[in-house]
Amino acid sequence: MKLLQDRIRRDGVIKSGNVLKVDSFLNHQMDIELLNEIGKEFKRIFEECSINKILTIEASGIGIACITAQYFKVPVVFAKKAQSINIDGAVYSAKIESFTHKKTYDVIVSKKFISSEDRILIIDDFLANGCALAGLIEIVRSAGASIEGIGIVIEKGFQSGGELIRNMGVKLESLAIVESMNAEDGSIEFRE
Ligand code: G4P
Ligand code: NA
Ligand code: NA
Repeated sequence: MKLLQDRIRRDGVIKSGNVLKVDSFLNHQMDIELLNEIGKEFKRIFEECSINKILTIEASGIGIACITAQYFKVPVVFAKKAQSINIDGAVYSAKIESFTHKKTYDVIVSKKFISSEDRILIIDDFLANGCALAGLIEIVRSAGASIEGIGIVIEKGFQSGGELIRNMGVKLESLAIVESMNAEDGSIEFRE
């Protein structure tokens, strides 16, 4: 998505440790006009999938998922990050080991909000090592629901998540795939 690539080039900040900061337009301050274009693009890509629900994870996935949901006219469910102590039989849960944040946590979704009838589009802002996404996939599968597609705004193509998830045989589409980025000179290359 050209508009998104241009915006990442203009306003993205490359930090050491392969972190791309996009908090001026995507995951802290949010540019709603851009998010609308992102929502339309996900609609175009996943038009043929007959989805009835969007699943994302708190916090930064929520805004993007909600705007996208307006184009599909479906509800959004977001997985919550939880302390293990709260987990009981009323929720689907998955353990996530974040390499980025060097911590392990559980994500949960109430059994009330996903069932075997559901055809789900998963939406998230970033794909790095894919642990968060793998957790969401595990939750959908535990519910017996189907994954119709996964839409990511920014994938870091030089990390392992994209390959990991695509190898699971799900339709994963990222609107911008960063092939490489350099914190020294600020240069960034996208996969075409
Ligand atoms: P991981 O396995 O390395 O932990 O990566 P994963 O793809 O699961 O992403 C973990 C978290 O790190 C996600 O946020 C993701 O959005 C964020 N993240 C990964 N790489 C980058 C990056 O280069 N830039 C930015 N801005 N974020 C990145 P989260 O833990 O779910 O937190 P939240 O921000 O959604 O609350
Ligand atoms: Na996220
Ligand atoms: Na994030």
